[in-house]
Amino acid sequence: MDTLSRYKILTITHKSTPLKNIGNFVLPNLDTPALFAAKIQALKKALQLEELMYMATCNRIVFFCVTDQLLDHQFINRFQTIVYPNLELDLDASALGFIGEHAINHLLEVAASTDSLVIGEREILRQIRNAYDRCLAAKTTGDSIRIAIRLAIETAKKVYSNTRIGEKPVSVVSLAIRQLIAKNPPKEARFLIVGAGQTNTLVGKFLLKYGFTNFTVFNRTLSNAQQLATMLNCKASTLDELPNYQGGFDILIACTGATEEVITTTIYDRIIQNQDKKILIDLAIPNNIEASIEQQFNADYIEIDGLKELVNENLAFREKEVTKAHAIIHKQVSSFKAHYKARQVELALKDVPQQIKAIKHHAIGNVFKSEVAELDANTQELIERMMAYMEKRCIAIPIQVAKENIAGISSVKKIRMGKVSEVVLNND
Ligand SMILES: NC(=O)c1ccc[n+]([C@@H]2O[C@H](COP(=O)([O-])OP(=O)(O)OC[C@H]3O[C@@H](n4cnc5c(N)ncnc54)[C@H](OP(=O)(O)O)[C@@H]3O)[C@@H](O)[C@H]2O)c1
Repeated sequence: MDTLSRYKILTITHKSTPLKNIGNFVLPNLDTPALFAAKIQALKKALQLEELMYMATCNRIVFFCVTDQLLDHQFINRFQTIVYPNLELDLDASALGFIGEHAINHLLEVAASTDSLVIGEREILRQIRNAYDRCLAAKTTGDSIRIAIRLAIETAKKVYSNTRIGEKPVSVVSLAIRQLIAKNPPKEARFLIVGAGQTNTLVGKFLLKYGFTNFTVFNRTLSNAQQLATMLNCKASTLDELPNYQGGFDILIACTGATEEVITTTIYDRIIQNQDKKILIDLAIPNNIEASIEQQFNADYIEIDGLKELVNENLAFREKEVTKAHAIIHKQVSSFKAHYKARQVELALKDVPQQIKAIKHHAIGNVFKSEVAELDANTQELIERMMAYMEKRCIAIPIQVAKENIAGISSVKKIRMGKVSEVVLNND
């Protein structure tokens, strides 16, 4: 049995399905910590998982689980029924499954960004930390996910400091801006920015760097809109006011965490002002700009899905570094196996000290109480010291023996990774 076999990952990524589909797998309406906690706790319970972490980024959805259940067809079907009851897409065909050490290996690859759409982008580490913190706050994670995430962060840092993978930093945002610049927009172009999160803040920094000056920001929460507007030296408004915006624009950049369209055809029609060609940039997954706008109106459209060519260029530059990163990851996974086993023993033995202490107290206070009472004070004190010495030694022995045994244990069975339907065959 694989030491790490209780770790399972079910993931929908840019490698398993077209990017456009990924948005369909984002769990909707998890906006507040309370909504998020309620949903994730309900899923964990319904799926009968010991631990669960959920993460959604622009190129992947990850369900990181700890469970003894097999990742088989029955599980996947139940997963789809519980998690995506209304989704027409087939989870089995759209997802990848990873089990045991392959799950850990995949987690480390994600963290080190060797599995990212844009290899070498560091944003993923922030996203992993955020996703973990949210799930920790929701109390759906435990010790197993905690130590795996710690390993993932440590490994990502090792990869970044020992390879050139993060050199000439790139990101989905930087590639989108490159595509925009290739269209030669005039410096005085009017930007309408919808959303004021981390991604649009990064967008704003790039636009300032390229010398653009004319911005308007709309965001659900005014205070966040104002923060970005301060950086861009422009006006901020709430999203509710967008349909009445009369200021016009040349370039619209939409990027919010909304799971439904924010720029609908109706809103777009009300705010365009004229029929001049606009540039639309949609960095959200799922997309924020209604798809039919591109066909119905005079517009050039830039979205994550369309960045593939630039992504491939980036990949070629980093290929050698990815090989080095994989070697680091492989080593980390190997040492984690022993660490994990030791941790399980540590947890199993965590009650031993208390139990031994209780035996000592019971012996002195009950079993040998009358005999001890007849002894003089010096002898009583000597017995106390001897018992304390024995207690300490007895606690150390099982832990030491267990650790020595673990050091000699190596993983036995390799479980392949692949499409969920393939993994199923290698599950038992
Ligand atoms: N991080 C990346 O590298 C990256 C790259 C490309 C694309 N993306 C995509 O960009 C989107 C946003 O990511 P982010 O990193 O900017 O997230 P973020 O920092 O958490 O910001 C989320 C933004 O979306 C707004 N928002 C959230 N839910 C909303 C809703 N239901 N209706 C309207 N506005 C809503 C938030 O408004 P409030 O201020 O009111 O909370 C905030 O402006 C996601 O779809 C993500 O997949 C991210």
